[in-house]
Formats: sequence, C-alpha cells, structure tokens
Amino acid sequence: MIQAECPVLGVREVGSAIFVLTFVSEAISSSVLAGQFINIKIDASNDPLLRRPFSVYRTNGPEVEIIFNVIGKGSSILHRKREGDTVGVLGPLGVPFSLSGGDFTTALLIGGGLGVAPLPISTAVLRKAGKSILTFLGSRTANQLVGNHLESLHVATDDGTAGFHGTVVDLFKKHYRETHPSHPKIFACGPTRMLHAVAEFAMAEDIPCEVSMEGPMACGFGICQGCPVELVDGDKKYALMCKDGPTFDVRRIRI
Ligand SMILES: Cc1cc2nc3c(=O)[nH]c(=O)nc-3n(C[C@H](O)[C@H](O)[C@H](O)COP(=O)(O)OP(=O)(O)OC[C@H]3O[C@@H](n4cnc5c(N)ncnc54)[C@H](O)[C@@H]3O)c2cc1C
Ligand code: FES
Repeated sequence: MIQAECPVLGVREVGSAIFVLTFVSEAISSSVLAGQFINIKIDASNDPLLRRPFSVYRTNGPEVEIIFNVIGKGSSILHRKREGDTVGVLGPLGVPFSLSGGDFTTALLIGGGLGVAPLPISTAVLRKAGKSILTFLGSRTANQLVGNHLESLHVATDDGTAGFHGTVVDLFKKHYRETHPSHPKIFACGPTRMLHAVAEFAMAEDIPCEVSMEGPMACGFGICQGCPVELVDGDKKYALMCKDGPTFDVRRIRI
C-alpha cells in the first residue's frame, strides 16, 4: 500500500457537474488492478478529516484518473484542484474484479451513474485478456452519460434524452433476453438499488456476477470496522467493504 502526496495535473469537466481529476503516481499507476480504489486526503488542512474513497477510472503511464461528481465537501474541494496542487493518496486498496481467466468469454459491464468509474480500466484489462465486452451505461439524463473508453456501448436514460428510455437494468435485461451472449459474466457498479436488481437477475438466470459496492468508509483498509457488508452464510456474519470488497461475488453477500 502506497501513501504519497501526488501532484495534480488537472481537472476537466466530462459531463454535467462530472469531473475527471488526473494526478501523477508511477507507483499507484503500475500497481493498481481494475476495481480497486484509492482513499484520498482531500486537503492538507485536515478539513474534511476523513479521506474519501474513489475507484481508479483510468491509468496512462504514470498518470492516474478518478471520475467524480460534486456532492458535498470533499468533492467540491477536489473539483477546484488545479495543476500544481497535490492530493494525499493511499492505495491501491481493496479486492479487484476477477477479469482475467475464468470460464467466461463475454464480459457484461453495467454502470449506473458514476458507477461507470471502474469500467474503463476494466475494459482495458478485458481487451488484453481477449474477452468480448458489452457495456450498459445508465444515467438520469443525456448530459450525465460519460461513455468514453468503453466498448460496445448501450445507453439508457431515465428521462429518455438518450438511448433506451428507462433504467440501465431494464435495458440490460432486454438485451440479454434477446441475444443470450455466450459464457457471460456480469461486472456491475452503481447505486445499491441498481446492484440489488442486477444481482437478482443474475441469480435467477444463473449468470456469474460481481458487483462493486459504494458505501460509507473511514480508514479504507480494515482497521475501523466501519464498512460492514452482510454475508449470506459462512462462519462470519459480515465482511468489510474496504478490505474484502468493494467487489463481491453476488452469491456471497446481501445487497
Ligand atoms: C469503494 C468506493 C469507491 C467510490 N468511488 C467513487 C467514484 O469513483 N466517484 C465518486 O464520485 N464517488 C465515489 N465514491 C463515493 C465518494 O467516496 C464520496 O462519498 C463522494 O464523492 C461524496 O463525498 P463528499 O465529501 O463530496 O460528500 P460528503 O460531504 O461526504 O457528503 C455530502 C452528503 O452526500 C451524501 N453522499 C455521500 N456520498 C454520496 C453518493 N455517492 N451519492 C449520493 N449521496 C452521497 C452524504 O450522505 C451526505 O449527506 C466511492 C465510494 C466508495 C466506498
Ligand atoms: S473503512 Fe475502516 S474497516 Fe472498512
């Protein structure tokens, strides 16, 4: 695990109030695996006190990108960072998606809103592994769709301003039932309600499925016990989202 003060290269707007921040860290860039996250100390002033976790969106040489929308204190400060500023980065953290090997030949990537975050880095790994890729992306409206660096993209919007009019899960189910991709495996990230719907469908159709969870966290590496995820069975009742996740096989957890 690396802890470093990393120089920011810039922040660019890629959708309505959606930003990509690029910082430089050869150590993170060369070691991060798709689906892992970093825990960012937003400001040297210790305000906000707690770090904020962000999935790694892309890497390019020594550059690392995260994608975020402005929600509260942490993300408001982040989106005002400029070249020459720094961010305190701890990571890479967590368990990555299982993208290489395995029995599947078609990866079905599903992202809801900023759940797109781990999909570009996952796409790069899947391409290298020679997998077929289908991507389903949903957002509330057209200008919140960020479909860069993805493959075979199908989009849905709640208000019908782009693509399928409805939820990304409905779009996905429709496509799946019409095409029945061979040897599929689902990788999904997004709001809990969306992940619940994806998991339910995956289990009903017997499709292997991993989800990346987003929830409250503090330390980010298994010390504070502040990020429990309920397990379906086994000796332990709970796993830790930061250390045992954020990616989980849906058969292991209650979403
Ligand atoms: C493993 C992991 C990966 C994550 N990856 C990303 C990512 O790639 N991109 C990204 O934008 N965020 C991501 N998040 C969420 C991110 O860490 C922050 O929670 C988010 O940026 C808000 O922080 P903030 O300081 O701006 O808001 P805060 O000041 O912490 O919160 C302001 C208010 O917004 C609510 N809130 C907090 N987070 C969310 C949310 N995600 N959706 C809706 N309401 C919320 C809070 O309950 C609070 O009421 C991830 C979280 C986890 C656990
Ligand atoms: S955030 Fe501290 S144990 Fe998970």
